[in-house]
Amino acid sequence: MNADRTLPWDWYAGKIPENVVIDEDAYLETSYSFLLYRSELPLGVRVGRGTSIYLGTMFDVGPKGKVSFGDYVLMNGARIICDSEVTMGDYCLISWNVVFMDTYRVPLTPEKRRRELELVPTRSLRVAMADVPAQPIQIASNVWIGFDACVLPGVSIGEGSVIGARSVVAEDVPPFTVAAGNPARVIRTLDPSEKEKYPK
Ligand SMILES: CC(C)(COP(=O)(O)OP(=O)(O)OC[C@H]1O[C@@H](n2cnc3c(N)ncnc32)[C@H](O)[C@@H]1OP(=O)(O)O)[C@@H](O)C(=O)NCCC(=O)NCCS
Repeated sequence: MNADRTLPWDWYAGKIPENVVIDEDAYLETSYSFLLYRSELPLGVRVGRGTSIYLGTMFDVGPKGKVSFGDYVLMNGARIICDSEVTMGDYCLISWNVVFMDTYRVPLTPEKRRRELELVPTRSLRVAMADVPAQPIQIASNVWIGFDACVLPGVSIGEGSVIGARSVVAEDVPPFTVAAGNPARVIRTLDPSEKEKYPK
């Protein structure tokens, strides 16, 4: 990152927000990923060592939102819709078009939703806001999530687990399991002793 918080290779004329900490060994393809970012916390996003964040990743993070990625995460283009907290451990592999949402952002009833949609054009970023509390999402280390999957509010995915492509993860996924489908169900268990083969 340059001293003025631009990226030397960036095609978009944006800057990395001041409350975003990206390890010097991490890679962020473009500052465009922060177009919808508006966290006002002292630390809004933290990206660990060796982590790569590619084109298509969007940090749609609200004023009280906080996102943390561990080391050696490979993020191939996820949408992170966060009004509370999205945390991810180390060595996670996130495929194309995965959505992590700790909030739905719009009310369930049509009448309230209409009112919210009428407010969108009055806001500088023209975004909708939730009327119910967000629920944090936790992704443990060594998790692999297949393309087009969606992780819903309040979900935890345990260490070493795999989520099938196009799954909708509505409930917690235990460690060392493969879950898939809509809603995602455990389809296979993995060997937890694998954990002994790597340091963390
Ligand atoms: C999750 C995954 C790894 C599971 O592979 P697997 O263990 O070989 O699973 P199988 O093919 O033996 O399928 C087991 C069962 O789960 C079902 N299943 C597998 N993947 C599924 C998915 N994504 N959605 C719904 N059901 C799925 C199968 O239909 C099968 O059901 P059955 O027992 O009723 O016949 C694989 O299906 C997948 O989705 N991979 C994603 C790959 C990807 O996104 N790559 C991008 C590169 S980062």
